[in-house]
Amino acid sequence: MKTTAACLVTLCVSGFARTGFAQDVLPEASGRDTTVRICGQCHEAQKAASIKLTRPGWSEEIDKMKALGAAGTDQEFQAILEYLSAHFQGELDRALDMNSADAIDLESVLGLLRRESAAVLQYRGTRGPFSSLADLKGLDPVILKKIEAKKDRIVFFATKKADSKK
Ligand code: HEC
Repeated sequence: MKTTAACLVTLCVSGFARTGFAQDVLPEASGRDTTVRICGQCHEAQKAASIKLTRPGWSEEIDKMKALGAAGTDQEFQAILEYLSAHFQGELDRALDMNSADAIDLESVLGLLRRESAAVLQYRGTRGPFSSLADLKGLDPVILKKIEAKKDRIVFFATKKADSKK
């Protein structure tokens, strides 16, 4: 599998471990086992590694997963919070949902130009809700590249929030 290959490469070329594949991998450290066990109940625990958040952001994200049914003790959730906020620390309190983001979000969080954000919104309107980066492939490559460069800031919510709001 792709993930396995990425791990092997990371091991062999340890000098480059921090670039490229690093985001798909949960680094060995205190709290990792708990994170894999509890956050791997519904989706791959690696899903947590797809975004980077502030500590309050992670706290909120963990609460969201608890509300969805993640089961664990307070101590375990504390260990997960420590682990994620140490190893997946970013600047945002909340990842940007590509299915409900408006033009201003796209410009401020992803650094798109006004006409680029308009193109994304137009594409979303015709292409329907996105479920992953792969669904954005039809966008202008320049826009796509900008979004890919910030992929640790985005998520693709499956919820109907976007519909019910408007
Ligand atoms: C009870 C099932 C369940 C467990 C356990 C669970 N998650 Fe999730 N997780 C989900 C679902 C469902 C989604 C998709 C939510 C959506 O599309 O709106 C999700 C999505 C995510 C996402 C993508 C962003 C988002 O908010 O949709 C991240 C990050 C995440 N989970 C992290 C975690 C972490 C960290 C843990 C461990 C504390 C965890 N998950 C445990 C059900 C779970």
